Amino acid sequence: MFSAQEIARFNDTPTPFYYYNLELLKDTLDVVKETSSKYNYHVHYAFKANTNNEVLELIQSYGLGADCVSGNEVKKAIECGYTSEQVVFAGVGKSDAEINIGLDNDIFCFNCESIPELEVINELAAVKNKTAQVALRVNPNVNANTHHYITTGLEENKFGINIWELEDVLVALSDMDNVRFIGLHFHIGSQITDLNDFKGLCLRVNEIQEWFYERQIIVNHINVGGGLGIDYENPIQNPIPNFEAFFKLFHDFIELRPQQELHFELGRSIVGQCGTLISKVLYVKNGVNTDFAIIDAGMTELIRPALYQATHSINNLTSNSEEIKRYDVVGPICESSDCFGKALMLPTTKREDLIAIHSCGAYGEVMASQYNLRDLVKAVYQN
Ligand code: LLP
Repeated sequence: MFSAQEIARFNDTPTPFYYYNLELLKDTLDVVKETSSKYNYHVHYAFKANTNNEVLELIQSYGLGADCVSGNEVKKAIECGYTSEQVVFAGVGKSDAEINIGLDNDIFCFNCESIPELEVINELAAVKNKTAQVALRVNPNVNANTHHYITTGLEENKFGINIWELEDVLVALSDMDNVRFIGLHFHIGSQITDLNDFKGLCLRVNEIQEWFYERQIIVNHINVGGGLGIDYENPIQNPIPNFEAFFKLFHDFIELRPQQELHFELGRSIVGQCGTLISKVLYVKNGVNTDFAIIDAGMTELIRPALYQATHSINNLTSNSEEIKRYDVVGPICESSDCFGKALMLPTTKREDLIAIHSCGAYGEVMASQYNLRDLVKAVYQN
């Protein structure tokens, strides 16, 4: 998992820190490139998953587009060398200032989620005498079997335009001189491990396309979002998701018109496995049913377990003990939910042992907070 030199380095580095394996990220990107280019698919990297500079620059060097959800992400994409043509800006609540950042940078497309938003983009574009390209984010009402906080494609979610509202949207668009309707956008959720959920999306996209086709509307860009899950249980054995099967499924089930391009916005599946949170045990405390290994990383560095009951694989990297004991691995924050794993079987653990929490490359560092006035922690790169 980690070499003796790496462990020595971890011991010499102030903990906690994010440890990025850029070789694994390269291998992952190679697979993404190879498997998507078979079908001429366009892959955008969802910035929200990880905006660490080294990570972003590496991804940019592979020619992926940038899927941004804030004005600052748009700025960062441009700073990192993405061309304006490669930048897409999504989000249910774009502020005027953020829309202006997109307009000033002549980004490729705004993914829009409501008529009021389209009206504002139209007005702001008119002020600048520009035409903004827009895609409509349609809520496909497809259930993804994932945590309810990260499912997005149901009518009850705040995201997207419902199918019965599309007629009104088309009427509104026909009055707007400064927006150009170029695409349809969908996203059903994140950490989706059953590819059948994506098949459901394909079939729904086909129906929705038919609806537009009946009205003589063919848009050039179909964007099916992100959401491909990673293996949180066995990250070492299974470091690269099955992109081949993922893209093939879209190829098999989505019906594209000849001039249509298919776009994806992948975050977690690209960066999830390349990051590990390295932490040290501060104290081991006896409990009633289990002992507590209290480590120096907390929900401030990785909020996923507290927020989504997510489980990440955890190892003690330095214990030589043959004996296996039961521990709750917890952080130092004053919240009961600051717990990385309950009743984990680990070799006997003591103060100063190094603990690795795997699969932290996506939604780890980006979701860090300074709660309890803690310091934001550094990133270290495998070399
Ligand atoms: N496109 C849209 C419109 C999205 O909302 C998202 C993620 C993505 C693409 C990228 O999805 P991915 O390929 O990474 O699944 N913080 C949560 C995940 C939130 C996902 C939000 N949207 C977590 O840690 O599980």
